[in-house]
Amino acid sequence: RMPILEQCYNLMDFEAVARRVMKKTAWAYYSSGSDDEITMRENHSAFHKIWFRPRILHDVENIDLSTQMLGTKVDIPFYVTATALGKLGNSEGEVILTRGAKKHNVIQMIPTLASCSFDEIVDARQGDQAQWLQLYVNKDRAITERIIKHAENRGCRGLFITVDAPQLGRREKDMRSKFSDVGSNVQNTGGDNVDRSQGAARAISSFIDPSLSWKDIPWFLGVTSMPILLKGVQRVEDVIRAIEVGVQGVVLSNHGGRQLDFARSGIEVLAEVMPVLRERNWQDRIEIYIDGGIRRSTDIIKALCLGARGVGIGRPFLYAMSAYGLPGVDRAMQLLKDEMEMNMRLIGCSKVDQLNPTLLDTRGLSMH
Ligand code: FNR
Repeated sequence: RMPILEQCYNLMDFEAVARRVMKKTAWAYYSSGSDDEITMRENHSAFHKIWFRPRILHDVENIDLSTQMLGTKVDIPFYVTATALGKLGNSEGEVILTRGAKKHNVIQMIPTLASCSFDEIVDARQGDQAQWLQLYVNKDRAITERIIKHAENRGCRGLFITVDAPQLGRREKDMRSKFSDVGSNVQNTGGDNVDRSQGAARAISSFIDPSLSWKDIPWFLGVTSMPILLKGVQRVEDVIRAIEVGVQGVVLSNHGGRQLDFARSGIEVLAEVMPVLRERNWQDRIEIYIDGGIRRSTDIIKALCLGARGVGIGRPFLYAMSAYGLPGVDRAMQLLKDEMEMNMRLIGCSKVDQLNPTLLDTRGLSMH
């Protein structure tokens, strides 16, 4: 029998339900990683290498989880990251995530390849709710410029350029499902010369410019006044270069294990990056986010202790939305929040700005 929503006690429970209730092609698209899915699994298990050194006897009666992301106040230090093709999982698509994000006052990153149109997702916003845009850069820069300017006009507060996908990874589960229904599930691909025999991911990605390079970044900085961040940075040298070129942030991410297999997890890269930035006293010149495999509030706390401003969460909200719609997304976020309040108490911190590296034992990470 199908578990009822109240029987989901953590984010993994939503995945188990989604696997049973979703259409096969949709499940294949959401759940797949590239090649042998080693990175996809590592993303979560990397957190298991880090242990806590909690402190005691600090007043933890009232816990405040709020923080700022790119100048916007949020209630919990995670955001809903960009995931394409929301209507595969739920006929209403990404606007469900918009409503869930509003309820918990967190930010939603809108994907270039959303199922709903960009304007529908912006129109679903309530009050001063904040959204960001994830950008796949089109070979035709006039299209990209139009998308960026439109996003800025419609009040998006951050532009996340995806830099880990010059070609889409081989997600074999997805390829085997022979995705055939591209047209009704995605907008804005900038052309319909798609190859439907290669799975959903490849069918929709042919417009992405593989020649994108560092020398293009100043152009983006000139086109918009939105903060620009690079999503998919995987080593400290590139974080340094991102700071030098003048972007406002990076997401240490491997695209949820869907691109280069054997890419390291975001948390592992974060542990490489922060000591180097601190050595140069550059840690405040850029906002650093990570995503990939965040499933427990302890994962979020570990990332913040190491120096992340916040974390992105992808599949869990897709699964919650696919299995239960908005109530599912609402519960998934609430569970994370309750979990995080408890674990902040147990680690001895009442505010996120108290989180720091001394609260962790990172000797299990491979670089130590
Ligand atoms: C993604 N991701 C992604 N990233 C991006 O920049 N543009 C995109 O269109 C998509 N689409 C997409 C679809 C699906 C189904 C998934 C699962 C992921 C990657 C996403 O933003 C993020 O990096 C990962 O999802 C984070 O890992 P978790 O939380 O899914 O483990």
